[in-house]
Amino acid sequence: RSEERVPVTFVSQDGERVKVKGCVGDTLLKVVIDQKLDINGFGACEGTLACSTCHLVLDDSTYKQLGIVTDEEMDLLDLAYGLTDTSRLGCQVCLTKELNGMTVRVPDGVNDIRQTDGAGSS
Ligand code: FES
Repeated sequence: RSEERVPVTFVSQDGERVKVKGCVGDTLLKVVIDQKLDINGFGACEGTLACSTCHLVLDDSTYKQLGIVTDEEMDLLDLAYGLTDTSRLGCQVCLTKELNGMTVRVPDGVNDIRQTDGAGSS
């Protein structure tokens, strides 16, 4: 893990763009948490591949740069709200130098398959 930081732009549900920096090697989930981004219900299972609330939509080129999606991630993505062709789970995407300046969009809703309450809701 290096200390190098890359900028990432998050586009919120209301279209607001927030530019933050994350360390190379960190997951997008960690970036969201570290930067205290306010995304309702995000990362409810804390990256244990059990919820799908960390669903993020990437742009085409970014999606292609990322590695293969594991079956486990795919299964969860299938359950995510508003799935797209370039969807990934934020807890499974690690920042690399190549992803410098990537933009990720927060889907319009979350679907916590565990149906727990109190996960980030206010
Ligand atoms: Fe739950 Fe990613 S945080 S699947």
